[in-house]
Amino acid sequence: MADDLTALEAAGLAELGAATDEAALRAWNTKFFGDKGLVRAALGKLGTIPREQKAAYGQEVNQLKATLTAAYDAAHAAAKEAALQLSLTTNPLDVTLPGRTRPRGRLHPATQILRQITGIFADLGFQVYRTREVETDELNFECLNMPAHHPARDMWDTFFTTTPGVLLRTHTSPGQIHVMRESHPKPIRVILPGMCYRNEAISTRSEIQFHQVEGLAVGEGITMADLKGTITAFARRMFGPERQVRIRSSYFPFTEPSIEVDIDWPKDDPNRDRLTKGTGWLEIMGAGMVHPAVLRAGGYDPAAVTGFAFGMGPQRMLMLKHAIDDIRLFWQNDLRFLRQF
Ligand code: PHE
Repeated sequence: MADDLTALEAAGLAELGAATDEAALRAWNTKFFGDKGLVRAALGKLGTIPREQKAAYGQEVNQLKATLTAAYDAAHAAAKEAALQLSLTTNPLDVTLPGRTRPRGRLHPATQILRQITGIFADLGFQVYRTREVETDELNFECLNMPAHHPARDMWDTFFTTTPGVLLRTHTSPGQIHVMRESHPKPIRVILPGMCYRNEAISTRSEIQFHQVEGLAVGEGITMADLKGTITAFARRMFGPERQVRIRSSYFPFTEPSIEVDIDWPKDDPNRDRLTKGTGWLEIMGAGMVHPAVLRAGGYDPAAVTGFAFGMGPQRMLMLKHAIDDIRLFWQNDLRFLRQF
């Protein structure tokens, strides 16, 4: 081997022997195998070698490369192994430690019950329709048969905005008008879930915001029997197959006749007396046949079609189902409460 190559090989191996960590190895690699490295330089000398020695010199450089590369790989593997051993002894791994459990998210109880309700009505052929929470006085009241100064407006304590005629919807019923105006003249079968707002003193029983689920069916020949059948089917899916449904007459300006719907509470529930105030019956929704004035406001001809509507409060249902005695818990985001669902 040419003298300079022999010297280069010896120097390379010696310096490699002294390089024991990752950084030193990297520096060595650059020094010998980098673009401006010594091996490249040795190869560059090929041009100055007499022609008849060129082939032999080239072979020797290749040999040198192979030797140094093999030595480098071995040194690199050894350094890695040493580093691993070091970390295992200085930072021993305790395989008996319990793993870190990841906190599992879950759906808010209000979301859960809304999904349950929409699921039941989907099975009954109802589509879900969403409408705005900021509503006009016209749709929240006027189109629902409550002109300005109508005394029934007092049934809904209203948040008005600073823009005249604009308010936070007090119920999901204005959605009826939106759906009718968009669907006319087709038959309708929808539910409208969403947040409603009322200007009430907050207490264990009333909140300023809560969900409602509105239902609306419009078409030829729809009768009170259809309303009763739909409500009964819903109540039995929601509260158990044995449930009885009781209907009382009531008043809403936008339905005629208007009813309130009660279900009987299971006799074996120890909370029955407290929940039903001793009667055994619990109110779950308001409902009725859509008032002709409302059909007309929605663009339908009350001489040609009829319809029924209902409105229920899922938070109330949750409170019944789980014996929750404070409605304020729903929007306080207290994990101790939310984790129970
Ligand atoms: N909107 C009524 C309320 O908020 C409920 C209702 C809806 C009653 C539809 C009848 C028909 O109390």
